[in-house]
Amino acid sequence: MTTASAASLTVHSLRTEYLTDPIGVGEARPRLSWKLAAVAEAARGLKQSAYQIVAASSQAALEKGAGDVWDSGKVASDQTVFVDYAGKPLKSGQRVYWNVRIWDQDGRQSTPSKTAFFEIGLLDRAEWKGKWVGSSITGGTHQEAPASMVRKAFSIAGGKTIASARLYATALGFYEFHLNGRRVGNDVFTPGWTDYRKRTQYQAYDVTTLLASGDNVAGAWIADGWYCGFTGNIDRRQFFGDQPSMLAQLVITFDDGSTQTLATDESWKTATGEIVSADLMMGQHVDARHAQVGWDKSGFDDSRWGAVTIFKDTGIEIVATPGPTVRETQTVKPILIKAQGKNWERHKYLVDFGQNLVGHVRLKIRGARAGNPIRFRHAEVLDKLNTGGLYTTNLRSARQTDVYTPRGDAEETFDPQFTFHGFRFLEIDGYPSAELSTEDIEAVVVHSNYESTGSFECSDETVNQLQENIRWGWRGNSVDVPTDCPQRNERLGWTGDAQVFVRTAAFNYDVSGFFAKWTQDLRDSQSPAGAFPSIVPDTSPVEQGSASSFSGDGGPAWADAGVICPWTMWLCYGDVRLVASHYDSMAKFVNHLYNTAKEFGGIRSHPDWKGWHGYGDWLSQDAGSQHVMGLTPKDLIGTAFIVYDAKLLAQIARALGKEKDAIHFEQIAADTKAVFQRRYVTPDGLVVGATQTSYVLALHFDLLPDEKSRKTALAWLVNDIEKRGTKLATGFVGSPYLAEVLSANGRLDVAYKLLMQKGWPSWLFAVTQGATTIWERWDGWTPEKGFQDAGMNSFNHYAYGAIGAWLYERVAGIDVDPSAPGYAKVCFTPNPLKDGPLTHAKASIDTHHGVVASAWRIEGSEITYELTVAPNTTATATLPTSDVAKVTESDKPVSGATGVKALPSKDGRAVFELQSGTYRFRAPIA
Ligand code: BGC
Repeated sequence: MTTASAASLTVHSLRTEYLTDPIGVGEARPRLSWKLAAVAEAARGLKQSAYQIVAASSQAALEKGAGDVWDSGKVASDQTVFVDYAGKPLKSGQRVYWNVRIWDQDGRQSTPSKTAFFEIGLLDRAEWKGKWVGSSITGGTHQEAPASMVRKAFSIAGGKTIASARLYATALGFYEFHLNGRRVGNDVFTPGWTDYRKRTQYQAYDVTTLLASGDNVAGAWIADGWYCGFTGNIDRRQFFGDQPSMLAQLVITFDDGSTQTLATDESWKTATGEIVSADLMMGQHVDARHAQVGWDKSGFDDSRWGAVTIFKDTGIEIVATPGPTVRETQTVKPILIKAQGKNWERHKYLVDFGQNLVGHVRLKIRGARAGNPIRFRHAEVLDKLNTGGLYTTNLRSARQTDVYTPRGDAEETFDPQFTFHGFRFLEIDGYPSAELSTEDIEAVVVHSNYESTGSFECSDETVNQLQENIRWGWRGNSVDVPTDCPQRNERLGWTGDAQVFVRTAAFNYDVSGFFAKWTQDLRDSQSPAGAFPSIVPDTSPVEQGSASSFSGDGGPAWADAGVICPWTMWLCYGDVRLVASHYDSMAKFVNHLYNTAKEFGGIRSHPDWKGWHGYGDWLSQDAGSQHVMGLTPKDLIGTAFIVYDAKLLAQIARALGKEKDAIHFEQIAADTKAVFQRRYVTPDGLVVGATQTSYVLALHFDLLPDEKSRKTALAWLVNDIEKRGTKLATGFVGSPYLAEVLSANGRLDVAYKLLMQKGWPSWLFAVTQGATTIWERWDGWTPEKGFQDAGMNSFNHYAYGAIGAWLYERVAGIDVDPSAPGYAKVCFTPNPLKDGPLTHAKASIDTHHGVVASAWRIEGSEITYELTVAPNTTATATLPTSDVAKVTESDKPVSGATGVKALPSKDGRAVFELQSGTYRFRAPIA
């Protein structure tokens, strides 16, 4: 008998696909991942040399080591992320318990990890046994309808023990399921937002503990949601359909293996209750006097309820939810409550939550008189930015107003579940007391429940606030789809905004599941010709495929989200299956761009082309604030993005082993680059448009012929910045790359000056004005001009937050090495600047391989760098020092340091290859 000596690594954080212990998995061959942690913190060079996954039908079997579902055996491999399940075929509803053990670099075996599990959902559409049920009530294209309730009393025979029970539910609209008086799960806005003409997601819940033998009641609220509520930009309701409906089934398994299934059908009953109306944009109106107390419990008299309406099954796909669902993730207490007078016993208050956030308000009300409504109006800002009354003109037609009409109980709670608002300020009108205590009120923050995995911090507090604003901006604009804004009558999945921000999102949060879902939405919205639209899910008022701004083709830098977002998921998470399933769609898109451009000499969005030319460099400043599309020619942007897309796609093709395709797309990139040079680069190195963005794109996408022209372009770019008083003039398209282009081309000094600029346009201007999220416009509000055009002026728009990627990548200096996507290999390029604005900076990312971190600090004439390389990964560290010989690691000469190999210096920087572990370098300031 051999006893394994303890390995240097332990296994933790097991995941199936994108989630921990998911139920309702939609993959018949799910991928399994785990992370490794060093047993001894100081250890270096730790690796996994082999793994063994054991999967069993029960926890007990697994504990006995019996892999009755799968035993991978010892597999010599360093793979820890997205390992394909390769056991027995899996069936719908099957639960699998699994664990992993690994062998380290010295062949020592770890103990098995803690048990994880996954459970397969309903793999086959035919397994849905129920009918789509709802109420006959309908609103109009402008008239909201009440939410309805459905219920069914049923009994579970005694004599048998319930072993397990699962609820599978979906809707066209929103559903909130109840069993025996208890709400099922913690998700909100289920089933999420997809193009309901093509698919809807379902959720699966373990409801074993909510049932008992004897009398039971199943019930649900059904509300309009995205399906038939108001939809942004078209300003009317009922885009996808005019009545919401739900499809659900409850499967109860007894200890003898027998089952009982309850599915929605004509025997369910329906009624309305206290939710008079519920709309995402307009708000929720609750009249508690109409509450049907006990409706979701047995013993309730439903004799006055009517029969449900049965809706035709439209045959759309019903798919599992791959990513995180939307949840209430935190609560925020007011920082200020100001009484604003009263009208009889109805008091008015202005509440300041101190943070522009997305969600709703939860309020306890005591001693209210029945029938006296309380009105809640939400706003992001006040009239004079942070003083005065509510500023709501920028909401356009979104009312963002909730109403609660009390029943007159001693204590009641208002907590609306089918709406959300973007707000920092709240006006309460009609509160029944002269005293509103912070105890009784809070804001509930709602967004997709992904994990926070990144952090960035530096020596400048305004930059730290910018980072906070970036994070809040993303949280508020990722409510099942990435949206432009959360407050006005828009809230749409603008593709351009998503593409601009996706990398920053992935630095701060684990958005792998979130974007796995949205890339499917992208595919659903692709036009037959291959174009991706401006907004996804596509709620264009016009036919898909027509040449309008809102449909068919989103145009340069918007449609390109169809390549950039999936590519980013591959880069940051190594998600090969995602790009494989999206591959044909991307290839079709890039070929479509190329072929269409061919008719115009290779120019995309050529002025003579009849299609939609796009949004230009949206909201740039080079043509002045009122000219929203800026001066950079749309065809230049379009043509530049063909090169970029084609290059990204060539990388993906190669990763998928499609070498011929890779060459094809590289050829497209090369051809189009030549076109770009012919058309847009003058012999003396000017780039047409001569805007900051035209130089930024030419440099960032490597579109220039040689080093000399790169230098010229850089000089022109810097010249333009300086001419403006060291200010940017870029819009959505150029801003994300501006600082990167400067720092990558030797002008880190200018990049830092732009970062630190406090006059507008700049990233910090809004921060100096007290912003707690990213503003849509550089000049959303200025002391000189006041508010920008109320027609388009959101104070929570994440796009300009795309500078966040640069903070991680270049300031703290953590980047993924594209040769080993998913942070299997990391590039550290910390960028302290002698006499620069920052004296220290640090960032960390909990990647799918574990924590990667970089921190630097200037101390006297030296800089300290603390770098952490996750177990089983490697890194290259490029440290800005001209004197390699003076570099130390853990206070000793670097030459002898364990896990460090010096590589030839590059451009005056010391380069080291690092094995896993934590390092402390010290180097003289460059
Ligand atoms: C949205 C955007 C979007 C843009 C397209 C706006 O109304 O809010 O952020 O990308 O339209 O130009």
